[in-house]
Amino acid sequence: MHFRTEIRNVTIVNEGRTFLGSLLIDDDRIDRITEGEVCDLRTPADKVIDGTGCFLLPGIIDTHVHFRDPGLTRKGDFFSESKAAAAGGVTTVFDMPNCVPQTTTAEAFREKWKIASSKSVVNFGICFGATQSNASELSRLDRRKVAAVKLFMGSSTGNMLVDDEADLLTVFEQSRLPIIAHCEDSTIIAENLKAAKKTYGPDPAIIHHPEIRSEEACLRSTELALKLAKQTGARLHVAHLSTAVELELLRSAGENVTAEACVGHLLFSSEDYARFGTRIKVNPAIKSPADRDALRKGLTDGSIFSVATDHAPHTLADKVGGCVGAASGMPIIQFSLLSMLSLVDAGVLDIAQLVKLMCHHPADLFSIENRGYLREGYMADLVLVRPHVAWTLTPNKIQSNCNWSPLEGQTFRWKVERTFCNGFPIYNRGHITDEKYRGRPVCFAR
Ligand code: DOR
Ligand code: ZN
Repeated sequence: MHFRTEIRNVTIVNEGRTFLGSLLIDDDRIDRITEGEVCDLRTPADKVIDGTGCFLLPGIIDTHVHFRDPGLTRKGDFFSESKAAAAGGVTTVFDMPNCVPQTTTAEAFREKWKIASSKSVVNFGICFGATQSNASELSRLDRRKVAAVKLFMGSSTGNMLVDDEADLLTVFEQSRLPIIAHCEDSTIIAENLKAAKKTYGPDPAIIHHPEIRSEEACLRSTELALKLAKQTGARLHVAHLSTAVELELLRSAGENVTAEACVGHLLFSSEDYARFGTRIKVNPAIKSPADRDALRKGLTDGSIFSVATDHAPHTLADKVGGCVGAASGMPIIQFSLLSMLSLVDAGVLDIAQLVKLMCHHPADLFSIENRGYLREGYMADLVLVRPHVAWTLTPNKIQSNCNWSPLEGQTFRWKVERTFCNGFPIYNRGHITDEKYRGRPVCFAR
């Protein structure tokens, strides 16, 4: 028995086009897309959803999250954070390896896979972490199963630093998968920190974070990553770009190199430290208003290829202190699509560009099978959003385990109405509909 749902009279955004139409879901797949109000069906659908006034987009694919399983689950876990994803219209996530134990061996990868399969309410991919000594593992990774290789060229939560140039070259040579690189030069950071401690004391206030994790630290490391990509031909995706100078550099990079911007770096600038304090402390640091504006511009001029969140939940207790004491990272996945829609309202990009950056391009870059587009025969990963509704974010609406958001108190003008994951209506107007539903591992056509 097939179950068919028609979403009718909705504004569909897909592959550069925005048009009024209807979409028919048949079990877990998109069966039909028609322009005009009603799908012309031989047999009526089992359920009809009136999409009048709403926009229908492919489910968001967030290729950079830290869901903290296993080992750091007091901050969040695959269940809590995937519910936040579903509530935010995100239907696929790529989880990063800086958990405990780190996802840097075949065994740890299998374990993470098992955990995600048993806890995640959205689809998932798992990234394998590069270390100074696991090169032989990298060359043996199953290209259809492993999402990407994550490489920390700068240290952050989890201490997974690889910074010796010979070791880095080995990683670039051995990886047959896209490398998602965190680029910050650790020597420059260490020097800056030493100087800052001398001037400001042992735990400098958060406003000094971009002086310590500086523009230069980002630039030098990104330069090195680009050099290694050129030398080896490896597929490099530079994670969470935070400066205008790196963007400039990327413009002349080869076709095997792309860049990611994260929502936090697009929303905030150094002027916001006074208001938000360590809540917006992330690595790489949020930098100047000019850097933020350059990143925003990069969304539409082709220099930023995809937008992710770097969703990194920490408890508020972990966020106490300054540049040394406070943990880096913020929970944001539940509000990433809505935040990007605010940028659409502000004229930074249009909604078709948003879909390209958050759905199509992540699917293309990692060769995700049958997802990321609204196409007949593709999996029915969808999000229905409603414009022109004003609502204010209060903690009771937060799904993340840590129960805070840097966006608390903000008024949004869009709402996620429903999220469908593999055709299943996992989120409906404020509620996860079935906490027992489980997403699927995504497959890679490589
Ligand atoms: O701010 C960050 N937080 N940057 C990272 O690279 C890691 C992340 C985390 O896992 O907390
Ligand atoms: Zn990250």
